[in-house]
Amino acid sequence: METIKQALIYDRSVHPERTNATFERVAEVLENVIGEQSATHISNLLDILGQPNPRNQLNSEQAHKITDYLDKAVLSRPQIQDIGRQLQLSEISTSEAIDIHKQFKIPVSHPEVDIIPVEGKGCWIRDTKGKWYLDMDSNYSATNLGMSNPEIALGLFNQANTLISMKEDRIQIARSRFLKEIHQMMPQGLDQFYWQNSGGEAVDKALKIAKAATESTQVIAFKGGFHGRTHGAVAVTWNVNYRKPFGLDETGWVHFAEFNDLKSVEALLKETGAKIILLEMVQGEEAGNRPATAEFVNGLWALAKQYDAVIIDDEVQAGFGRTAVKQGDWFACMSYDVVPDLMVIGKSFGGGYPVTAVVTKKEVGSKMKYGYDGSTFGGNPMAMTAALIATRQMREKDVTGNVVARAAQIKEGIATLKQKYPVIGAYSGRGLMFGFDLGSADNVRKVQDGLRENGVKVSLSSDSMIRFLPLTIITDGETRFFLKQLEKALQSLKV
Ligand SMILES: Cc1ncc(COP(=O)(O)O)c(C=O)c1O
Repeated sequence: METIKQALIYDRSVHPERTNATFERVAEVLENVIGEQSATHISNLLDILGQPNPRNQLNSEQAHKITDYLDKAVLSRPQIQDIGRQLQLSEISTSEAIDIHKQFKIPVSHPEVDIIPVEGKGCWIRDTKGKWYLDMDSNYSATNLGMSNPEIALGLFNQANTLISMKEDRIQIARSRFLKEIHQMMPQGLDQFYWQNSGGEAVDKALKIAKAATESTQVIAFKGGFHGRTHGAVAVTWNVNYRKPFGLDETGWVHFAEFNDLKSVEALLKETGAKIILLEMVQGEEAGNRPATAEFVNGLWALAKQYDAVIIDDEVQAGFGRTAVKQGDWFACMSYDVVPDLMVIGKSFGGGYPVTAVVTKKEVGSKMKYGYDGSTFGGNPMAMTAALIATRQMREKDVTGNVVARAAQIKEGIATLKQKYPVIGAYSGRGLMFGFDLGSADNVRKVQDGLRENGVKVSLSSDSMIRFLPLTIITDGETRFFLKQLEKALQSLKV
């Protein structure tokens, strides 16, 4: 009962991040834990409390009356523990959280109201309804080392207690620690870093560095490519719906080539005189996890040499082992056996904590001059601490070895399902960045709904392609669970 009491009225010395619970949330948690039996208890409690406003924060007296009542109600020990835990995880009800979101958030993206996550462990998350799901999109590949991370939590706690922030241009030790360890994971020759806080920002900065290095402004990007939502990153993203409302559909400096088509690239190199080529080696968000062919990559590197252009490899999603083909492929470029002039990294980098970077060859990065850029939060001590711990964990957990094994298991599993369910079309992807065609966006939605009903959280698609980005630490057992639940979801298509 003590846990419930502490969850109703927050103790600032232990949980300064919380507020007091509402009655609406108490009622929701009772329903989550004891189902239909909760109705009588909720009605009794409402009477005892004198019909409080369900969304007001409870005061100590009300909290006392609730715990007194629950103490006398016939509840098992595990039920009491679960009520306490769920109230700890959220003191705000699902419906209030959704209403607050809709009332106060600028509606830049479609709100995902199906699952409101409050707790994570390994590859699993639990929502405000108390239900656990296997997470198959890892926050667009940002939480690859687990949906919570006690070691990163400890490192951040220690760092926040000593030095919480430091502007980018000041030398600081958390960054020195990181730099002493990270180089062992980087492609040969990429050893100049500049940190940012999001992938889009890092793409922006990579473009600035490439422009400074080549003393030119024309950029070749690719149809089907996605690079983020900052002004510069949107300008080089193919989907015109993202660019047009902001006057970025005809910038005059961005030219889109066909992906996997060298002739199209060469024609643009000749026509525009561009010296900068930007690509995702596995096109993710917009193209349904489409990998470049080896022939295209080799030809592109030859063209860049011939036309004296630099290549920016956007590994924000593909990096840190996700697209590994063999053990040690920390970046997609390593699996293609090429080294770009600039590489953009993010998402997985901080194990869920926001930290991104541009990494360049020395001759490229050194063309930037003092005053060309700056950042308040870029590479701050908290971010560097998270990056140090996360990248160390990736090596210790042999993430690339796991990706190779799990990707083979998934490919084989989906090939077997395809024999039974002809609705499964072409498989596309590399490593644990994969998807397959389901014929229509409607089928994708039905399979996603089916997966959710069977305990698998999914949210990614590109038109008729369902996409998955599981955590790169997903286990053999979890992969088998996913394939089993996928079959159940496919059955619901009734084809
Ligand atoms: C390839 C690629 N680049 C850049 C970004 C932008 O990253 P962020 O959302 O952190 O700005 C994304 C995001 O999905 C991405 O997939």
